[in-house]
Amino acid sequence: MKKKPVVGVIGATGLVGSEVITLLEERKFPLQTLKLFASSDSAGEIYSFLGEEIEIVNVEKNSFHDIDIAIFTTTPDITDLYLKNALHAGSYCVINSSYFKDNYLKKKKDPLSLIIPDINISDITSANKVYASPCCSVVILAPLLHRINAMKKIKRVTIASYQAVSSAGKNALDELWSQGLAIYNQKDFENEAFQHQIAFNCIPQIDVMMDNGDTREEYRIMHETKEILNIPKLQIHATAVRVPVFHCHSFAINIETDEKVIIDDIYKALDDTKLFSIYTSDAEYPMPLNVVGSDLIHVGRVRLDDSVKHGVALWVVADNVRKGSALNAVEIAEALASIL
Ligand SMILES: NC(=O)c1ccc[n+]([C@@H]2O[C@H](COP(=O)([O-])OP(=O)(O)OC[C@H]3O[C@@H](n4cnc5c(N)ncnc54)[C@H](OP(=O)(O)O)[C@@H]3O)[C@@H](O)[C@H]2O)c1
Repeated sequence: MKKKPVVGVIGATGLVGSEVITLLEERKFPLQTLKLFASSDSAGEIYSFLGEEIEIVNVEKNSFHDIDIAIFTTTPDITDLYLKNALHAGSYCVINSSYFKDNYLKKKKDPLSLIIPDINISDITSANKVYASPCCSVVILAPLLHRINAMKKIKRVTIASYQAVSSAGKNALDELWSQGLAIYNQKDFENEAFQHQIAFNCIPQIDVMMDNGDTREEYRIMHETKEILNIPKLQIHATAVRVPVFHCHSFAINIETDEKVIIDDIYKALDDTKLFSIYTSDAEYPMPLNVVGSDLIHVGRVRLDDSVKHGVALWVVADNVRKGSALNAVEIAEALASIL
């Protein structure tokens, strides 16, 4: 008989961790007990879950002894510190931080066990204990590219991403608020979460600059898209810009296909209301303010790109914290719960 798992969220007080808790509740995740972990700063705080009060506990090496599924939504260094303890205790681990990808980048070792359930849910098996959610831009764009590629083979993709501050965590959200207020009140302010002032600005650098002039975020988008789509030779280029928007990433993407493509092909490829919201009228298009809180990938301004033989341009918006991160992690955990 299947048993309901004990689930632990490590980083429960962060933007992604809090959304994971909301989703576990909304989706009626079949769990036995929920355990919430964060740093000593938050220990003792009380969260409500299905009418029960759950106390936040400071995560420690021995925190995992009874955890069946550990969802890591904390910083890469903290994930690095506790992943081995979770594995040693026999927990299945879902990683929602750049830990896996950065490790891969440095050590060029095992292939990534990146999972987007819509694409490769069958890669989740009881034999493998650790699964990673790709970076949120890839969680948003890869299902769309996957569906279009199944209909018309994709040759080349270019991506310009306009990324919300929430993807840099709760301190970054506070920084946009406080800078805006300081400017309004003609007060001095510091830049802490970002390299430059973010209020009323755009910063064309997300994460560190690499030797070839790409940022690490751009590398992740390009590398992880090829990896998850299993198209190693896909021609892909990405530019990632931080914009003064609280929630939701937006993308301008241009896709070149091998054969003739018409706009209706794109509508047909993305005809799945569980995954996409398509705006077919020129009078309407998705924007961060009307997409926040949505589980869907919103696609509008679909038009032909006649600068190449067979090209199409799209505008895509999705909630980076919910769709791009927390929901993907919860869906991986749901798949794990079904095989325990
Ligand atoms: N935000 C997004 O859109 C997004 C998308 C994809 C992936 N991610 C990844 O998800 C992870 C979490 O992101 P986030 O936006 O939720 O960050 P966040 O809002 O800054 O939250 C960070 C969490 O980590 C906890 N933490 C920090 N230091 C700790 C320590 N020493 N011991 C235990 N817990 C500690 C924090 O607990 P305290 O509250 O106690 O400090 C908090 O719960 C990051 O690795 C990020 O790269 C985020």
